[in-house]
Amino acid sequence: MRLLRAELKDLIKNKLTKAGLKAEHADMAAEVLTWADERGYHSHGAVRVEYYSERIAKGGMTIEPEFQWKETGPCSAIFEGDNGCGFVAATMAMENAVKMAKEKGIAVVGIRNISHSGSLGYYTEMAAKNDLVAISMCQSDPMAVPFGGTEPYYGTNPISFAAPTADERTVVFDMATTVQAWGKILDRRSKNMSIPDDWAVDEKGEPVTNPHHVNALVPIAGAKGYGLMMMVDIFSGVLLGVPFGKHVSSMYHDCSQGRNLGQMHIVMDPSKFVGIDEFKKSMSQVCDELGSMPPARGHDKVYYPGERAALRVEETHKAGGIEIVDDIYNYLKSDDIHYNRYDHKNRFAD
Ligand code: NAI
Repeated sequence: MRLLRAELKDLIKNKLTKAGLKAEHADMAAEVLTWADERGYHSHGAVRVEYYSERIAKGGMTIEPEFQWKETGPCSAIFEGDNGCGFVAATMAMENAVKMAKEKGIAVVGIRNISHSGSLGYYTEMAAKNDLVAISMCQSDPMAVPFGGTEPYYGTNPISFAAPTADERTVVFDMATTVQAWGKILDRRSKNMSIPDDWAVDEKGEPVTNPHHVNALVPIAGAKGYGLMMMVDIFSGVLLGVPFGKHVSSMYHDCSQGRNLGQMHIVMDPSKFVGIDEFKKSMSQVCDELGSMPPARGHDKVYYPGERAALRVEETHKAGGIEIVDDIYNYLKSDDIHYNRYDHKNRFAD
């Protein structure tokens, strides 16, 4: 099933509104989710709407949040999210961070007590489109074994960075610090497909290929990925005074309670360093040099981060719209808001 961007965004917005989110917030959330599906990040697009709807309907997301912006130093601020919609809080915090970085050269913005905010590349790209460089990172449910451990302790704790170039290209790197994001497991489940044996482990710590048997994800690159997921938790959890490590709330634990997640945006103005024109020119040079390198066997090209996503956007629109799994489309079109699909489920539930 292919849907035009505007159709998909409307369906998502309508469902979130029907679940109880106010229209303005549903619109901002739908924009981030559509952004993800449009780039082929289906793990963080419409597939999640059913879960968000249940949480909204059960009161686990504050409908009228009292967002607060507190400047805590010349270049630092806390965005208090009041357990409102994570997409909205992370977007507004980035808008403020962009303004602060333009004025002060750098903005370090901690976002406290929010719900899930989806694909982080959306937020760092916002900064890059404003001629800034940015890093964003956030906590997620503890579902990854630490290197050498047997129990889930850290989340898939994603990191994104973005940088502008002197042309239409934008470098947007965006990854989970686990071999795969949890949403990729959900995506495979929804398509009845198996997973490669290096994505996750079962209850005994053995590699699994059946996505329904996953008990923990594994960090990228062993001890190095473990270190990165710890860094994310320090910057977006310990530093912000929200629950950290294995104390981070689970997506499915109790849909009637706020999740109290943390996120960190760090935004810098290149004009305070090398100068914006030189920076953008050099970034274009980097992308050109990488793209003109002879590819290794099995690769058609060396892509800069974000290039394949940008190509997918083009292909998607040429093909007549965004590809959505039938089950998800049927749910979005229906009047259903489920009240008992996700609540109190094992964190590794569908
Ligand atoms: P991924 O594995 O699809 O891509 C990771 C990065 O590698 C991307 O920046 C991509 O541009 C780059 N890349 C991939 N193949 C490439 C190639 N051939 N050449 C050059 N670069 C290439 O991403 P992942 O880890 O599956 O994450 C998907 C999304 O899930 C992200 O948007 C992330 O922010 C989001 N996420 C959100 C979480 C949350 O709690 N909010 C938790 C985990 C992930």
